Amino acid sequence: MAVTTRTTDPSGIIPMEAYHGHHIGQRSPWKKWIMNQGVPIHTGVSLYDMYTTPVSDWGETGAKAAMLNFETGEMSDAWLIEVPPGGQVKPIHHMFDKMVYVVTGRGATSVWTIGSKKKQTFEWQKGSIFGIPLNAWHEFYNGSGSEPARLICVTSAPLAMNFNPDHNFLFNNTATFPHIYNGEEGYFSSEGKPLEGRLWRSNFNADVRTFPVETMRYRGAGGTNRHFDMGSTHFNAHISEFPSGTYKKGHRHGPGAHLITLEGSGYTLEWNWGKELVEFPWKDGTCYTALNGFWHQHFNTGKKPVRYLAITHGRYHLSLRARPAEQGESAANVAHHGDEMDYEEEEPWIREKYRGECAKNGVTVDDYKMTKEYELSLPTDSWRKEDWT
Ligand SMILES: [Fe+2]
Repeated sequence: MAVTTRTTDPSGIIPMEAYHGHHIGQRSPWKKWIMNQGVPIHTGVSLYDMYTTPVSDWGETGAKAAMLNFETGEMSDAWLIEVPPGGQVKPIHHMFDKMVYVVTGRGATSVWTIGSKKKQTFEWQKGSIFGIPLNAWHEFYNGSGSEPARLICVTSAPLAMNFNPDHNFLFNNTATFPHIYNGEEGYFSSEGKPLEGRLWRSNFNADVRTFPVETMRYRGAGGTNRHFDMGSTHFNAHISEFPSGTYKKGHRHGPGAHLITLEGSGYTLEWNWGKELVEFPWKDGTCYTALNGFWHQHFNTGKKPVRYLAITHGRYHLSLRARPAEQGESAANVAHHGDEMDYEEEEPWIREKYRGECAKNGVTVDDYKMTKEYELSLPTDSWRKEDWT
């Protein structure tokens, strides 16, 4: 009987040999791509100082860059891009999402769709966030003639490249997605509008360092929060703030989150059953991640509130800790086999270690704020039940 061997996929677009990077023991297509960029690559779980970390010329892009290749399960990566004084990053479009936070400096971005010459240009500054719509042309300008500007771009390049490693598909694709962005006026300049609870819908936020936050009772310690619903990408961004003398409850979730400290200082613990404990410090300008499925906690050891920005995939970060209101707000804790640890469920060494770290800075631990009694004294969280469906 004759045997037919197919050497290309059914569409004929991708030679099957392009898939060689998927074999176990070999680097993935995305890993190969990032290693070929000729710029520094930071691995592990954190990059302490995005203001000063070295960057180097990034090919013909017009920018300098460093890549953040954290242990995020090849779900997302981050590109630290420096736009030189008076310079710009050459236009590019690609078949993956990109969420941008301005680390330092000021400038502008122009966006336009494939086949259109109608550019929308909006200005940004330190603290701004925005998303680049899928496959839209975009370019970054530095608004200063004397100071460099640094942007951290969280992207879904790992997912896209491992799904389809053909660079022609990824970087020369002519597909348009008008349901995401069709050149609508004000797309990047509208202030946006509040949705239910702590959700805010907009495609641009001028400064997440100062944007108002609201009570988030079940996360403990009087923490406050705001979620940004940006239709321009599938990424979810939120800011979280918690007071001096407190720390976040332990929790766990899937891979891919990139956290950026906006203000304050402290440290994070990450652990999993039978795995080595991970501990690292952070401050304003640190970018870090949570290991896949690891429990983790963020500890404020300074005299000011801590605020951070988290950029995560879709809504997993929310839904893993969702709890029906009728089950009560502890329905997600360890006792209920959930993904969030009540303070009362912690091992004692966690609080004792924290007390010692705070003492070094003359900070008093606010034990009362980290009790169920205090948590229940706060206003109820205002998510609608429908938000979880
Ligand atoms: Fe987390």
